[in-house]
Formats: sequence, structure tokens, C-alpha cells
Amino acid sequence: MTAASPLTMTQAIETRRSIRQFVQEPLDQGDLREILRLASLAPSAWNAQTWRFVVVQDPALRAELQAAAYGQTQVTSAPAVIVVYSDMEDTLRDVEATAHPGMGEQGQQKQRATFEQAFGGQDVAQRGAWGLAQANIAFGFVMLAARGLGYDTVPMLGFDPDKVRALLNLPEHVQFAGLLPLGRRAEEGHPHHRHSLDRLVTWK
Ligand SMILES: Cc1cc2nc3c(=O)[nH]c(=O)nc-3n(C[C@H](O)[C@H](O)[C@H](O)COP(=O)(O)O)c2cc1C
Repeated sequence: MTAASPLTMTQAIETRRSIRQFVQEPLDQGDLREILRLASLAPSAWNAQTWRFVVVQDPALRAELQAAAYGQTQVTSAPAVIVVYSDMEDTLRDVEATAHPGMGEQGQQKQRATFEQAFGGQDVAQRGAWGLAQANIAFGFVMLAARGLGYDTVPMLGFDPDKVRALLNLPEHVQFAGLLPLGRRAEEGHPHHRHSLDRLVTWK
């Protein structure tokens, strides 16, 4: 399956499951780009788009990431690992760029004022947590966009963030939504096991 025959959103959600063993083949780079393009369409508060991606395909670097992820083998089984992180400081640096062009220069000034008012009094960690909440939305979008194009993933938070920052040369303030090994499934994974809606939903 390629970008030419995407799954419906319902099929993508139903068939996504965590996959930890992948077919050993290089990824179609066009599909990879398309997955990231689709993920970048995720919504965020004030359109802040705090998410950033590192695509790791180099086998030696994947081996080092695996070591930082307590040896979890899916990191080297997958032909690519997408690292999804939030960089709120980078977001703030040129926040004008996130104002809709239709709003003109005034919109850009308003966007700067909004962010200064909301985050100027917060420390880096506080506003970093807000940024991470936005990046987590994109993290979900990557998984579903990948599945929609016939690929599989496993979301991961089981790693040492300091080690991953050091390996990828990322500044200390960035926060991780997670690692996402990505490829084509070489195992079936586990069927969904979820709470019933009765357990989750209150209808008013
Ligand atoms: C934020 C997050 C972190 C996770 N971290 C890991 C991890 O470090 N290693 C792993 O094998 N699975 C990890 N998982 C996968 C979960 O175990 C899995 O999503 C869950 O059991 C549901 O199964 P499913 O994804 O197949 O539906 C993580 C999932 C999420 C959403």
C-alpha cells in the first residue's frame, strides 16, 4: 500500500495497533514526507504548532537510540524512528509566523502580544508543559497518518530523555511527546483491549 491507496480514517483507527517487529526494508521517502505533512496539519491552541520532528533512519544512530530506550528492540527493527518533541522556545522566537496570513501584519502583532501575555510570566518548564500538550496532538496524528498510508508504529515513552536530547543534539528545554518506530508490520500485534464506553462516558 502506498499514498495512492490510503485507508479511510475509520480503517486507520481500527487497524492501528502497536507493532514492535517490522519488515526489513527501506522506507519510501515520499510516503514518509507525506506522513509528516499530514501530521503537521494537526490543530494546536492559537495555532502555536510547537511540535518538531527528527527522522532517524541511520542504523548506527538507531542503535544508540535503542540503548537510550533501555534496549527496546523495536527501535532498531523499524527502518525509521520519528522523534516527536515540543520546542516552545523556538515557537516563541518567531511566533508571528503562526498568525494566519489573512490577518495581515496586525494579526502578527496580536499573535506576539497574546503569547507574551500568556507565557511571558512563566518559566521555561511551565510553558514547556503547555507546548508539550500541543505536540502530543501531532504525535497522535503521525500514528494515524502512518496507518492511513499502510504503515505501522509503536508510540514510546520508555527512554531516558536526557540521553535522547544528547544523541540528537537537542537543547535542554525541549520536551518529548515520544519516539515512534515506523515501518511495515512483521507481526500482528495485540487486538485492542479497551474500557467500554460505559466506563468512560458520562452523558448529560
Ligand atoms: C505515550 C505512550 C508511551 C508508550 N511507551 C511504550 C514503550 O516505551 N514501549 C512499548 O513497547 N510500548 C509503549 N507504548 C505502547 C502501549 O503499550 C500501547 O499503545 C497500549 O498497550 C495499547 O496497545 P495498542 O497500541 O496496540 O492499541 C506506549 C504508548 C503510548 C501511548
